[in-house]
Amino acid sequence: MSPGPGLFITFEGPEGAGKSTQLARLAERLQAQGRTVTVTREPGGTPLGTRVREVLLDPALAIDPLPEFLLYSASRAQLVSDVIRPALARGEAVLCDRYFDSSLAYQGAGRGLSPDLLRALTREVTGGLSPDLTLLLDLDPATGLGRAAARGQPDRLEQADLAFHERVRAGFLALAQAEPGRFTVLDAARNVEEVAAQVWRAVSSRM
Ligand SMILES: Nc1ncnc2c1ncn2[C@@H]1O[C@H](COP(=O)(O)OP(=O)(O)OP(=O)(O)O)[C@@H](O)[C@H]1O
Ligand SMILES: [Mg+2]
Repeated sequence: MSPGPGLFITFEGPEGAGKSTQLARLAERLQAQGRTVTVTREPGGTPLGTRVREVLLDPALAIDPLPEFLLYSASRAQLVSDVIRPALARGEAVLCDRYFDSSLAYQGAGRGLSPDLLRALTREVTGGLSPDLTLLLDLDPATGLGRAAARGQPDRLEQADLAFHERVRAGFLALAQAEPGRFTVLDAARNVEEVAAQVWRAVSSRM
């Protein structure tokens, strides 16, 4: 749970599910209620994380599963200590676009790294900081990749094959099933307004 009176919410799900869209809308809605909101994302969110993000998304780079996970972890460790923990300690709502569940789904279920290894290192990296609420935007990967493709050149992850993205989706759903108290699974195939209403219901019930 959060170290302070803040509220820590993460958005998870595949490429093009609508995480960034819904996160921005939720931020506006919370701000309209007078809450101070910190918005951040993975990888990124710090000067180190921004550099690591460029490496991770570069379509020209081949990166093996273990170094890929370590790069995400480097970005995550810096983000937790420099941004997320301080904001929670100030009592803010922290909205993060992806967090450690993405590593468990992509590097674990997707790339086949050992879940025990991922969880052990993630505990060190986050100091055990788990979200109060994780919104899983569940979507068929072909639909998500189609939405993302409309944005232009595919990044390194969008280029991976459909079977990989199917494993990632199943990985996310298994995580949600294992921790139903933390996760809310949303049907991301619905339109933006309907998904936003589902997000708001889940968040309101935590406040
Ligand atoms: N519910 C929706 N229905 C249809 N299109 C949507 C919906 N939500 C978002 N979109 C559109 O799909 C595209 C991807 O949305 P968005 O960038 O929010 O997804 P994302 O999950 O953040 O993707 P990524 O993993 O690539 O960052 C955008 O063009 C967005 O306008
Ligand atoms: Mg996004």
